[in-house]
Amino acid sequence: MAKTPFFITTPIYYVNARPHLGTAYTTVLCDVQARYRRATGLDVRFLTGMDEHGEKVEEAARSHGMDPQEWCDSQAPFFEDLWQTLEISNDDFIRTTEARQTRAVQYLWERMRESGYLYKGTYDGWYCVPDETYFTETQVSHADEERGTQGQHLCPDCGRPLERVQEESYFFRLSAFQDRLLRLYDEHPDFVMPDFRMREVRSFVEGGLQDLSVSRTSFDWGIPVPFDDRHVTYVWFDALLNYMTAVGFGQGTDEAAAEFARRWPAQYHMVGKDIIRFHCVIWPAMLMAIGEALPEHVFAHGFLMVKNEETGQGEKMSKSRGNAIAPEEVIDLLGVEGYRYYFMTDCVPGEDGAISFSRMEQVYNADLANSWGNLVSRSLNMSAKYFDGKTPQLADGWSERPNPLCDIAQGIFGRYAEHMDKIEYVAAKDVVMELVHAANHYIEDSAPWTVAKDPARREELAGIICSLLESIRICAHLLSPFMPQTSAEVLRRMSLGDEATTDDLAAACAWGQLAGDAPVSKGDALFPRLSPRA
Ligand code: ME8
Ligand code: MG
Repeated sequence: MAKTPFFITTPIYYVNARPHLGTAYTTVLCDVQARYRRATGLDVRFLTGMDEHGEKVEEAARSHGMDPQEWCDSQAPFFEDLWQTLEISNDDFIRTTEARQTRAVQYLWERMRESGYLYKGTYDGWYCVPDETYFTETQVSHADEERGTQGQHLCPDCGRPLERVQEESYFFRLSAFQDRLLRLYDEHPDFVMPDFRMREVRSFVEGGLQDLSVSRTSFDWGIPVPFDDRHVTYVWFDALLNYMTAVGFGQGTDEAAAEFARRWPAQYHMVGKDIIRFHCVIWPAMLMAIGEALPEHVFAHGFLMVKNEETGQGEKMSKSRGNAIAPEEVIDLLGVEGYRYYFMTDCVPGEDGAISFSRMEQVYNADLANSWGNLVSRSLNMSAKYFDGKTPQLADGWSERPNPLCDIAQGIFGRYAEHMDKIEYVAAKDVVMELVHAANHYIEDSAPWTVAKDPARREELAGIICSLLESIRICAHLLSPFMPQTSAEVLRRMSLGDEATTDDLAAACAWGQLAGDAPVSKGDALFPRLSPRA
């Protein structure tokens, strides 16, 4: 049977500076989901990439004395290398300056023109370059009033200085889509996740929609409008389309069309809350205008925050504010796997998360060094010590014998999957850690070192060790989307190396599949304890 397709995307990031912890956050969030879905047998396509057009990128290039393409080419390796370091398993990396994107965007223009939702006019209003966003006079004066700003007008969203723009422009008739969007939100309440984001989006749309300027004439770092070459495409009109370009939209070959039919719509667009309106309002309206299917879910997470030393306030970590923490700094402390585990299980995706090095150490030591790592090393050590460097020989029916760990492992995949399916990684991790903690307690309660002293209790000892190893095997599978290398290593140490990449995670989590009488290697500590910082 053909596998069910599953298409998941990150935002494509602006090439205005190096990627940082925030950029990496969304990318790792997607990676965990992509790995999880592959492990449940889906045919996953995981897309990330770079957003290379627009004023913001052009300015970054200029400030480095390069032309924009040269600048983007010079920055791409920083993104690609970081994704490799962080074990990101993306299947594609799209850059909006590639020929496939130009083809798709120009095709979009033709389709838009035919749709009747496009018209030419003059844009006269405000523009935020760091956000690449338009604001009306009213929006700006409201925000200025609220902030008590005098003189220079500031961006209602991010508070940075705005630019006045007056230019000929094509407009997308976004205002015509209010009712259809509201109906979409009614009929698909999980189109925007989590819930409270859906409520924000809905009330924004209920407030009325303005037509959107979708071309620029005052600069030229963008994709030319095919029927009017004085205009280049507004960067968001270009950027959003990347999701369809990557699966064959507008490429003009039968092969691409077949790919598009199979892959579109996407199951998940993962984004930060800063770009919700683009993904939950503008993007579905664009798709409605040209009659293409809508993505199933847009999942919006909060921001990683850092403290501004001058004001003492928390602010969003960002490339353009220059307050970013480099991922390498955290990787040095926690290792890549510890990094992934910390961000995915300690920062609740829905909310803003203040990050701190002391909290990182605390989570790492408690969950990874003292619980998971310790369980693995104690259990493998005992197995090797009491059973001659091997796992115990499996006695007939051992897996059917009553055992507290088997009870917890019963149905564990279902409990975990229920959360993983909804990007509830903290809760999914808790399901696994319950078994890890129970197994550590079980070691204390069953005291294998005492049982080992009595030759008449060999079978009991084998039962204890088997239950521990079996729990570890299951936990390794369930933790694999978060920490793929560690899980593969744990399974290898138990002579289960071939199992590391399963496409039937549910089956892999059923109790009783341990390899008996197989070599065990103790290896180094998986997560050496961190000593508290001075
Ligand atoms: O908006 N915490 O690109 P961008 C968490 N090119 N996530 C963060 C973050 C933080 N402090 N800072 C950034 C763009 N992110 C457009 C997108 S998509 C068609 C075009 C993540 O480089 C988060 O996912 O500004 C946010 O939405 C994204 O980076 C913005 O990246
Ligand atoms: Mg941004």
